[in-house]
Amino acid sequence: MPITFKELKGPKGLPVIGNLHKIELENMHNQLEGWADEYGKVYKLILGPSKLTVITDPDITQEILRERPGKFRRMVKMDEVMEEVGVHGVFNAEGEEWKAHRRIVNKGLDVKHQQQFYPEIITSVERLFNKWNNMVDQDQSFDIQQDLLRFTVDVTTSLAFGYKMNTLEEEGGVIQEHLEKIFPMIFKRINAPIPFWRYYKTKTDRIFDHAVVEINKLVDEFIASGKERLIAQPELKTKPSNFLESLLVAAEEEDSLTDEDVRGNLLTILMAGEDTTSHTLAWTIYLLAQHPEIQTKLHNEANKILGEKRWLENYSDHTSLVYAEAVAMETMRVKPVAPLLLNEPIEDVEVGDYLFKKGSRLLIESRYAGMQEEYFTNSNQFNPERWIKQEKGKCPMGHDTKAFVPFGSGPRFCPGKNLALLEMKLVLSMLMKNFSVELITPKEDVREVMAFTMMPSSYLVKLARRK
Ligand code: HEM
Repeated sequence: MPITFKELKGPKGLPVIGNLHKIELENMHNQLEGWADEYGKVYKLILGPSKLTVITDPDITQEILRERPGKFRRMVKMDEVMEEVGVHGVFNAEGEEWKAHRRIVNKGLDVKHQQQFYPEIITSVERLFNKWNNMVDQDQSFDIQQDLLRFTVDVTTSLAFGYKMNTLEEEGGVIQEHLEKIFPMIFKRINAPIPFWRYYKTKTDRIFDHAVVEINKLVDEFIASGKERLIAQPELKTKPSNFLESLLVAAEEEDSLTDEDVRGNLLTILMAGEDTTSHTLAWTIYLLAQHPEIQTKLHNEANKILGEKRWLENYSDHTSLVYAEAVAMETMRVKPVAPLLLNEPIEDVEVGDYLFKKGSRLLIESRYAGMQEEYFTNSNQFNPERWIKQEKGKCPMGHDTKAFVPFGSGPRFCPGKNLALLEMKLVLSMLMKNFSVELITPKEDVREVMAFTMMPSSYLVKLARRK
């Protein structure tokens, strides 16, 4: 007989509220990992009226993620919260509708568009270099996370709207100011056992509502000018120059895609593409600061591939930045920024030894498996070499990639993976070609903070110029 929810173990709870009083949202992923040590790879949590099955087993994780959109879907509650914000796009669409959204989003983010868009990314890499070069001239320690966020904001906004954003050199960045209020609130609401905000609005709810209205207004303005551009320059229809134009062309071709869907997907790309990439870079730099020997290896690779240049000028050379990619992968194993994946079965489904009932809530915690000795040898060590294939195309040590899902898995895996890796390799190779990095904030003071994505608490670094 398969194991049902009732039979699962889990932390002891109180009457009515269950384990709710124990949850610390900002630290939830660490709590979930601690309970997996105590109660096993699959266990239960009761949060007031919500019953959650927590999954850290990689085989079960892979099967759930693979069986979408047929047998599993993203958690209904997530969709409800996102719809309230006006986001209806590829992240929260389901079934046939998701397939249509996904086709269009894949196209907008494919290699051809990435290549076409490369000069824009390089402009932002150059601005980042200038900023950091200035910091060295001034002998200043600084908050590098802010620069990384501005970099991904500029790249993602230009990609999404074709709007040449320059928050790296100019103050402002209205879109980002609004998004900063929206992200943490979405995470809070998804995790809230009772939707209080629907009955009573606190000051933070009102600030959130205002940010939502404003961002929707801004995106509508971008859509209107995108439509005007397509009328004025019909040749763009065969060669859209940004994600917005690709969506508008697709909407003309596929009747099922409405203006609301276009807006939803633009907001999705902004939400999915900025914090994820900048926080991963922030974790990478934090880890590099503790490993000067890895910095030297990155510097040597950058010297070889970039030659005399300060950053990578040729798009096609990015595939040669093998060590930089390995560093990014290893960072995502130990510090994945999206370690919580929320799904639910569309029907009663048996997976392995377990029965998951239709509509039950499944919370996948994805870091736990990647940190187990069973799947990765010396799993506690930060060792990029483990990602570099040696003779016979094998990695040098125990290396089971089924336990590594920082970009998700199956048909709904992250469509921005290639873009994110490209951005990370470009920033890392530029940084390490020209500078070495030192952490000024004591490393033990830097905490993991969960708020939609899992980011480092703020820290200061100092850069030194390489000879
Ligand atoms: C290091 C950077 C990133 C990480 C770690 C990351 C991680 C993820 C994860 C874990 C998912 C859920 C996958 C699943 O359910 O199986 C996802 C979905 C998604 N990501 Fe990313 N992501 C990153 C960057 C990006 C970028 C740059 C973009 C676009 C510009 C993007 C767009 C999306 C979209 C649209 C989805 C929803 C896909 C769907 O539901 O079909 N992501 N990402």
